[in-house]
Amino acid sequence: MTKNVFIANWKMNLPSGFEFYLESLSKLTVSSNTTIIIAVPFPYLYQANKIVTHDTTRSDEVMIAAQNIHTKLKGAYTGEVSIDMLKDLDIQYVIIGHSERRQYFYEDNTIIVKKIEQATNKNINVIFCIGETSDERQKNKTFDILTDQLGILKRFENLDRIIIAYEPVWAIGTGVTATSSQAQEVHSFIRRWIMNNFDNNTAETTSIIYGGSVNEENIYDLVKQPDINGGLVGGASLSLQKFTNIINSVVDP
Ligand code: PGA
Repeated sequence: MTKNVFIANWKMNLPSGFEFYLESLSKLTVSSNTTIIIAVPFPYLYQANKIVTHDTTRSDEVMIAAQNIHTKLKGAYTGEVSIDMLKDLDIQYVIIGHSERRQYFYEDNTIIVKKIEQATNKNINVIFCIGETSDERQKNKTFDILTDQLGILKRFENLDRIIIAYEPVWAIGTGVTATSSQAQEVHSFIRRWIMNNFDNNTAETTSIIYGGSVNEENIYDLVKQPDINGGLVGGASLSLQKFTNIINSVVDP
């Protein structure tokens, strides 16, 4: 069964009363097939992970993610954080390939594949973001771009530790969401790509989530689509109430 995954990406923001936010989420009752992940800025990882209860008997565990790692394990890279440092904090997820990293920090496929290797070598789960720009969509290049971005996954034996987030760049932080049918078309393309490059079982079990101006209103139509397994939420995730309503979209549609 494909897991539903809802990720709050706080980016370089901190919701007011973030301790209360995390405590409340860790007490939330959700379907046993749902994973909730909160991607917090580096300095708060330790505290966030401590607040969130890691009770292995609960299936609705709330997990903490980092928003980035470096390609190297250690060395003279001022300001950077390695995967081993995340392991020391017992962090089990990391976002890699976010369009803001691609755009503002010039991360390309070569860098992204190294980061995915670092994470998966250490058994850390990866939230791998892909998506086309508005220009690329207008020029009908969406599927070529996605094929290129997905291509780096071929280096890996399996996708056991990968969640794919389809985030059209034109929808991130703009208030313009892909329609549920636009998103479904791409998600089903991604699932077919996995089927063709891995196998049927991998295609069925890999969570493919949508990101880009997800909110309390549009999430219902999105998660109703057969190939959309949850959301990666930026702006709306800064509000506990909004993010909780988004998570509840699969429980109470
Ligand atoms: P947004 O961000 O929900 O604010 O559009 C999504 C993301 O960047 O992951």
